[in-house]
Amino acid sequence: MNTTKEQWSSRFGFIMAAAGSAIGLGNLWKFPYVAGTNGGAVFLLLYIIFLMLLGIPILLSELAIGRSGGMNAIDSCKKINPKWGFAGAFGIAGAFGVMSSYCVVGGWVIRYIINSFANGGANMNAEYFSDFSSRGFEPILWTFIFMAATCFIVAGGVTKGIERVSSVLLPILIVFLIGIMIYSLTLPGALKGVKFFIVPDFAEIGGFSGFIRIALNAMGQVFFSLSLGMGTLITYGSYLPKNSKLVSSTVTIIAMDTAIALAAGFAILPAVFSFGLEPDGGFGLIFQTLPVVFSQMNGGTFVAAAFFLLVLFAALTSSISLLEVIVAWVCAKTKLTRTWAAVIVSVLIFAVGCFASLSVGAVPELSVGGMNLFEFFSFLSDKIIMPLGGFFICLLTGWVWGIPKAEEEISNSGAIRFRARKLFSATVRYIAPMLIAVIFITSIFGGK
Ligand code: TRP
Repeated sequence: MNTTKEQWSSRFGFIMAAAGSAIGLGNLWKFPYVAGTNGGAVFLLLYIIFLMLLGIPILLSELAIGRSGGMNAIDSCKKINPKWGFAGAFGIAGAFGVMSSYCVVGGWVIRYIINSFANGGANMNAEYFSDFSSRGFEPILWTFIFMAATCFIVAGGVTKGIERVSSVLLPILIVFLIGIMIYSLTLPGALKGVKFFIVPDFAEIGGFSGFIRIALNAMGQVFFSLSLGMGTLITYGSYLPKNSKLVSSTVTIIAMDTAIALAAGFAILPAVFSFGLEPDGGFGLIFQTLPVVFSQMNGGTFVAAAFFLLVLFAALTSSISLLEVIVAWVCAKTKLTRTWAAVIVSVLIFAVGCFASLSVGAVPELSVGGMNLFEFFSFLSDKIIMPLGGFFICLLTGWVWGIPKAEEEISNSGAIRFRARKLFSATVRYIAPMLIAVIFITSIFGGK
């Protein structure tokens, strides 16, 4: 009796930790606006296809590699083959890239919480966001506060406590999101938004190059949202007991992450159409629409403040695990203490984050290839570093390690039936790496 109970609670804790890392700004802030700028339902369709073809096999592979190796990402990969440590190393670069724009958005969220309290949120209309985010100094101050909070938690090493809190706050966030979603869906004209989100209109996507652009964005979003290709889940997998069920954990994490992203889409896109805004408004979308929705509700001030507080919390649980990836590596490689490592890495991220923040509006010259720095950093991490990391994880699992050994790990040496073995083998060896390669190559030549 005792052992089964223990196993269940550790599995629950693991799912919460993995979901806490996966669920963050990627679901609440990024998913709705990327869907909005990429044709809505066509994006959603590709997103779901990529979840199946890339998300499931790569997430499962990462967990299996981690549990088999029982060590950090790089050493677990090395244990499979000493030359393959690099496959786990993408996390360091990826985490830095993600964090440098994540901290900027985290700062905006803090600003919105405080403004909801201070002014009842009455001034938070669409112009407020563009006005605020393009000021030079002020957003940097909020970025600093977000980064300092992340650093403080990581330096203290109190991740355990955070996990416990997230088991409580995650369900509250879900309840809030469902409430906002229902409210949005009942706004006049909301149906247009629903249609935009779930009925694909291939005529509107801009031909082949448009399709490739949407595919690249959908792939990037799958990697970003599930925290894939960065070795995070290898590390999490290494903490798993040998008798845990990898396949059902994979499916549960993906289902939770996707449910939150979809709820965010249904909360925001109908409101966008109801208020006559454009769905392709870009990265300010959630900040420009939700406050307007809240201002129409009874008790909207409270809802706004509470909602942005929950968003902040989801963002912090992700940013902590991102910073942790780099800090753990720095601690292993240098003689720095944990606190100093956290502080130094945070200062570096903040410095890069300042440029990202300024590039949003105050200093538009800060751009690379037609993207401002803020967009460029996320382009690098979600569309290059993470997919490349995922590509090598597939090759490592499917070809270097080999399906029989991977299966041995996934099935707990035959104790659990692994029904999808053939499907897993086909996706991890052929479909996923080829899909990543094709999207890469066609987007270099075909689209932007
Ligand atoms: N998945 C997180 C989100 O949706 C962001 C993220 C990307 C992440 N890669 C990660 C978090 C690696 C932790 C580790 O917001």
